[in-house]
Amino acid sequence: MGQENFREITPAEMTDNPFTAFGKEWALLAAGKGKKSNMMTIAWGALGVLWHREVCFVFVRPPRHTYRLTEAEPCFSVGFFPERYRDVLQLCGSISGAKEDKIAASKLTLLDTDGCPYFAESRLTLICRKISFLDIDPHNFLDGTIAENYPKKDYHRMYVGEIAKVLTRDGASGDAVSSKS
Ligand SMILES: Cc1cc2nc3c(=O)[nH]c(=O)nc-3n(C[C@H](O)[C@H](O)[C@H](O)COP(=O)(O)O)c2cc1C
Repeated sequence: MGQENFREITPAEMTDNPFTAFGKEWALLAAGKGKKSNMMTIAWGALGVLWHREVCFVFVRPPRHTYRLTEAEPCFSVGFFPERYRDVLQLCGSISGAKEDKIAASKLTLLDTDGCPYFAESRLTLICRKISFLDIDPHNFLDGTIAENYPKKDYHRMYVGEIAKVLTRDGASGDAVSSKS
């Protein structure tokens, strides 16, 4: 499986529901350069329009190894996978690339487009150009219960990625949506 299996579509042609894609299916956020790339599972994210651009928002806690790589490089990718990769997503959300080679452990196939890492097994990948970030500030929580998400006070950095490319694989979307939460 390689780059040739993917077809580029526009953000407007995407048919995924972001609530199920992020919240139920989960995604892999990949960042870094070549073999030093890393990925982590994310379940919080958003797609939309900002500053007249099509964007993807991801939320990364500073202790993550992926945070360091997202900081260091100009792009990141957000990949959505068929349901049979649930175990891989569990793995990538429970071990750190700071301690082990997560790409080897996941057995996923690392690809690269315009210097941005992504995975051949994804059914849909957004290649994003980092254009801005915003640090979550607990002083701005209007609903105090939001603070319960931060027992360690490791407030996310929100990255705004301009969607540079949407890559899809024909026939790979049928098994996308999970009933698990
Ligand atoms: C379902 C699921 C969703 C997650 N969503 C996020 C998220 O949106 N942001 C975040 O910072 N961590 C999230 N995590 C935690 C990271 O994936 C996890 O800490 C990972 O091991 C970090 O890897 P790294 O140190 O290699 O970057 C999630 C974990 C799981 C299992």
